[in-house]
Amino acid sequence: MCGIIAYLGDKNSYPILLEGLRRLEYRGYDSAGIALLNGELSVYKKKGKVQELADLTENKGLFATIGMGHTRWATHGKPDDINAHPHFSGNNRLAIIHNGIIENYATLKEALTRLGHQFESETDTEVLIHLIEEFQNRDKLPLEEAVRKALNKVVGAYAIVVIDKNDPNKLVGARKSSPLVIGLGDKDLFIASDATPIIQYTNKVVYLNDEEIAVLTRDKGLEISTISNDELQEPVIHELDMSMDQLEKGGYEHFMLKEIYQQSQTISDCMRGRLNAIEGWVRLGGLEEHINRINKANRIIIAACGTSWHSALIGEYLIEDLARIPVEVEYASEFRYRNPILTDKDVVLVISQSGETADTLAAAELAKEKGALVYGIVNVVGSSIARMTHAGSYIHCGPEIGVASTKAFTGQVTLLTLMSLVLGQRNGSLSNSYYHQLIAELASIPDKVEKVLASNEKIKYLAGEIKNTNNTLYLGRGYNFPVALEGALKLKEISYIHAEGYPAAEMKHGPIALIDENMPVIVIATNVSAYEKIVSNIMEVKARKGIVIAIVTEGDVEIKRIADHCIEIPSTIDPLTPLLSVIPLQLLSYHVAVMRQCDVDQPRNLAKSVTVE
Ligand code: AGP
Repeated sequence: MCGIIAYLGDKNSYPILLEGLRRLEYRGYDSAGIALLNGELSVYKKKGKVQELADLTENKGLFATIGMGHTRWATHGKPDDINAHPHFSGNNRLAIIHNGIIENYATLKEALTRLGHQFESETDTEVLIHLIEEFQNRDKLPLEEAVRKALNKVVGAYAIVVIDKNDPNKLVGARKSSPLVIGLGDKDLFIASDATPIIQYTNKVVYLNDEEIAVLTRDKGLEISTISNDELQEPVIHELDMSMDQLEKGGYEHFMLKEIYQQSQTISDCMRGRLNAIEGWVRLGGLEEHINRINKANRIIIAACGTSWHSALIGEYLIEDLARIPVEVEYASEFRYRNPILTDKDVVLVISQSGETADTLAAAELAKEKGALVYGIVNVVGSSIARMTHAGSYIHCGPEIGVASTKAFTGQVTLLTLMSLVLGQRNGSLSNSYYHQLIAELASIPDKVEKVLASNEKIKYLAGEIKNTNNTLYLGRGYNFPVALEGALKLKEISYIHAEGYPAAEMKHGPIALIDENMPVIVIATNVSAYEKIVSNIMEVKARKGIVIAIVTEGDVEIKRIADHCIEIPSTIDPLTPLLSVIPLQLLSYHVAVMRQCDVDQPRNLAKSVTVE
């Protein structure tokens, strides 16, 4: 996905846009560009990160009170200076920035070419600005009317901002399936992909809805209509409680490390007001009115992507174990296209940190169309998924800036644990004693997280042991199997080492052929149940000269005797293990990536939220 920021006010937009792009860089960083209107409509754009753009522009004395900026994650057209946004119309009167995909761009391009339009780039975005130009010229329309007409011809996803050289007091924004937020300052107006570049100027925001058009002008402020008609709608203003220090690194070298160390606090934040260990209760506001329908459901389907899919797998173990409701886990990208059988007796949980992942959003929309109850587990307040589901719970982890998800994962697992407790207690699956034992143990997890973090130096040493390997295997059983998958994803996405997660017992059915003295094998061996089995699995690896790094429960002696290295974590009960066993894997991948001089917070080819298919 891409990052969008636009400004209209009485200040110089140039530094505001550049700072905003730096805050949005986690959304994509193949190229970056700005457009400034000060009599002339000037565009500066460059392949590479925002710093490349800053190097290109910072000594030019740029000044304009209206402008926009874009940081790109390429979909159509390779990352280069020409395909970078903003894009001009053919007459150089208009400029556009865009996040999304225009699916019918080729057809539109052919028609425009026949009308004499010529294109510089390979992008779908340039086609859109030429279409807007065509309507403006043909029908002599104001900018917002030309945008409205053009968007009615578009199939696909978009979040756009358009500037007209002949209308220097106006910004026009519009969105469909890609997020857009309007910031309302005292004299300043902003449009951005999310609140992170706005919050230092104002906490008053309006979330644009699908197929809405926002017109921002110096005299009238914000006016919202839709692509189907120009009737004005009353904006809903939200006051955000996000703070600037939440966006800063807080003294850590990378956002990822900061967010790993925040997990004791973020797990506590996720439980605040929802769990009371003294009085012995768990409550989930968003769940209350739907508990009966969920407890009577044929099944719960959990749809998600990436790390959120891993927490979904843990959700399956938790809900079936503690609430005895059948659960199926789906990759959202597969679920949305395989024509699944769904009825109103089904419940679909969608899990998403950003709340903007295109596949997960589409899966939720499909489930809603088919009559299922759709419940969201989301981090970003006001995100698209959060606003379209029937109900949901926020995980309250604050902005997660590092592309590799860490605190959101443990926040999701915490929320799923709370949900399982509520459902299991209400439908009688959970005995009173076990319910209270789980509550007490869950309340102790934040302190236990701090103890795990205290092993950082030892984990950093082990990172040095594996940093030059080309392949690794992660093994776990039961609740720790999804943790093995998550640990493998962390390593591969930030250190670029191939890593594979596997159920430990499954290793004998193939992956064991990979084991030799060059293959580090990370085994999560904290299980209470199946402990002897995991010990055997470690022996099988050692018998083939594999190097074993084991995550064990503190005080373990048996595995210490056979593994090459052990990282101890505090003991807990199996259902809560993932909240602790994942942390050494997060730190291990972090340190390996740093030692390999990888870009930890913005790994190559990745983006924080994939808002395109
Ligand atoms: C996780 O480290 C990755 N950045 C990625 O797999 C991510 O979890 C996935 O894209 C889903 O994002 P979401 O939770 O915002 O929907």
